[in-house]
Formats: sequence, structure tokens, C-alpha cells
Amino acid sequence: MPRWIHTRTPDAIAHDAARLFKEAYGYEPKGVWGAPGRVNVIGDHVDYADGVSIPFALEQLTAVAMAPNDKNAYRLVSVAPDGKKMEATVPVDQVGPLSPADWSGYVVGTIWAGTESKVIGATQGYDIAIVSDVPLGSGLSSSAALECSTAVAAFELANGHAPTHADLPGLVDAAIRAENEVVGASTGGLDQRSSLYGEHGKALVIDFRKGTTTPVPFDLEAHGLALLIADTNAPHTLSDGQYASRRGVIDAFTSYQPEDSFRDIDDAPAKARAWATAQGRDVDEVFRRVNHVVEETNRTIAAAGALEADDMDAFRQLMQDSHESLRDQYEVTTPELNSAFEAAGRYGSRMTGGGFGGSVITLVDAKAIEDTAQKIEDAALAQGFPAPTFLVARPGDGARRLS
Ligand code: GLA
Repeated sequence: MPRWIHTRTPDAIAHDAARLFKEAYGYEPKGVWGAPGRVNVIGDHVDYADGVSIPFALEQLTAVAMAPNDKNAYRLVSVAPDGKKMEATVPVDQVGPLSPADWSGYVVGTIWAGTESKVIGATQGYDIAIVSDVPLGSGLSSSAALECSTAVAAFELANGHAPTHADLPGLVDAAIRAENEVVGASTGGLDQRSSLYGEHGKALVIDFRKGTTTPVPFDLEAHGLALLIADTNAPHTLSDGQYASRRGVIDAFTSYQPEDSFRDIDDAPAKARAWATAQGRDVDEVFRRVNHVVEETNRTIAAAGALEADDMDAFRQLMQDSHESLRDQYEVTTPELNSAFEAAGRYGSRMTGGGFGGSVITLVDAKAIEDTAQKIEDAALAQGFPAPTFLVARPGDGARRLS
């Protein structure tokens, strides 16, 4: 029997965060803020190459109860979705590049980067209690949910008012810097934008070249469809070098071209062959990596067109093509991800996020949700993989105050 991921309502998770805060620090928080994880529907491994992605914010939230303290330190307590409790105390003046490069860095690094860039007002210590329904290591951006809930909380506590739409780019930057500079994960910015800009009922077409995030209707129910997430429970981490190795090839190639942006390079795959030859790199491998990035952005632009034309058949075909490219050209899938993709029937199915573990999503006929989950579970168990866990994802709102 497929196991379903349990999710609290925004009120319930806010209540739990406030209770954890009171237990840990003995007084009431100033407020509770929440930010969602995200699911990337199509367009993976293109954000750091000025490409296009179509994610949406999940309804699943990370909630942060917070209040300033007079200790010149951040005190943190966190309960993860699996019930694991973690604590940390970080002096305010100890936060900076690669410090602290663990889970607490996502939180305190966001405050550090936001105050450095003056988006978030005065530096001060905070007491922070975190609870989350965004599964960890599942390709659903639990780290962005942590950064972005902290970002809106610290913004409001330090500046005295909630962020407006105009403040969001500064908060996106602070969250990205926390991840890149403090934790040391060289990720690209898709996740933080999704978590801060999410809108109920909408997917986001993000063009990283233009710097635009455009909400578009994503009404699966009207098509009798649902988006099923299968978390393979083969955990991944993006700070372990594999992600950086993929990004490194694209960054290195781009830096050798006269164009400022990967998107401006004409016939990038052919140029990549020439560059790899001159550099003594594996020519076929570099070609496949660059070719994926070019094709995936083109595919995602086509997918945005398919959404606009209400052509979900074309959209589902593009999802399948995307998975095959991430598997064969970018080589970021795992046997567990490929098993779920095959068992779901491929059409309308793909891995989501950074890969090397995590989740497969499938646009399924709403009547076939249970059946499809069962097939994915059966295939995993038959191969000795962990039992996946499941979620039906709907587009929810972005980071905000919960209570
Ligand atoms: C991770 C990163 C993102 C993006 C995706 C792949 O989620 O954090 O920046 O690169 O992988 O699309």
C-alpha cells in the first residue's frame, strides 16, 4: 500500500512552530512565518545557464517562529518532518562565508546576507523555532523553504513591515547567497524564486536571462489531471560535489566564450566540442552536458507555449523528453528515479530538481493516482529499493506571515 506524506494546514503548522518556540525559550514568539518547498515541473539544470524553468510553490510549508533576543546570537531549534530535533547557537559575528556550513547556515546565512545588502535592517540576535512539512533531500527544496521563511520573518522583524513585491528580488538574493556562500552549495536560484513568488493555482515561468517570474494558470483539475510526486527516499544532498561538477562544466565553458550569457552563445554544443578538445576534456561528455542545457531551455519554452495553448498532451511529452535528457545527457538520475519514471509510464513523468536522488513527478489522470502510486511502489520494492512516499501537489502561495 503506497504511503502518503502527511501535511499540516498553515494554521496547524504555525501553531506547532509557536509551541516549539515557547517550549524552547519560555516566552511567546513575535510571529510565525512560512515558506513553501517547490516542485519544478520542467526545466532542470538550466537556471545557472540563464535558461527557463516552470516550477510551482507547494502547499507544504516550513514554518519559523521568531523573536529578537539580546544575546548577540542566533539560537535555533528545529524539528524536521521525520521528527528529528536539532539545536544550534551561532554568535551573530561568526556568520560569513562557509560559516556555519551546515543546516543552520541556511537560516542565519540568509539573515547575514540580507543585512549585508541592507535589505534586512539592523543586525541582531534572534530566537528561532522551525518546523517543516517539506521532505528533506527529496528534490523539493527544503533548504529554500528554510531560507525564505527566515527571510520574510527577519525582514518584517527588522524593518517593521512585511516585504512588498518590490522587496522580493533582494530577499531572493539573500537566500541564494546563504546557500552559495555560507553553506557552500553552488545552486542556481530556481528554488528561492519559487518559494518567494509562489501563487495559489499558478505555475511560474521563470526566465533567468530576463530576470522575470511570470505566474501562469496551472489548473490541472480542469483537465482531469493531478500532479503526483513520488519521493524515492534515496536521499540526495546538493552540497556533496556532484551537483557542483555538473554546474562546473557549464560555468567553465561559458567563461571561455566572448558572450556574457550562455543563452547568447550560438550553436553552443558545437562550440563545446571545440572547447573540450582544446582543453583536453572528455569531448562527448562535455557535448552531452551542453546539449542538455540548450535543449532543456528550448523544451521549457515550448512547454510554456503548450500551457498557454492548453495543450497538456504536448506538455506531457516534453516532460518525458526532459527526463530522458537528464538521464542520458546530463546523467543526474539514479536507478530509483528511473524505476519510478518507467513504472509511471514515462508519458508526463520526469525527475524533478537537482537529481542524484529525490523525486519523480507524474501528470496523471486524476482517477489513476492510487494505481500509479501502487505501480511505482511495486517496481521499487521488486528491485530492493526503499518504499517511495507520495504526495499530490497543488500550487500554493509563496512565503508569508502565518500568525
Ligand atoms: C537544485 C538547485 C536549483 C536548480 C535545480 C536543477 O534544485 O538548487 O538551483 O539548479 O537543482 O534544476
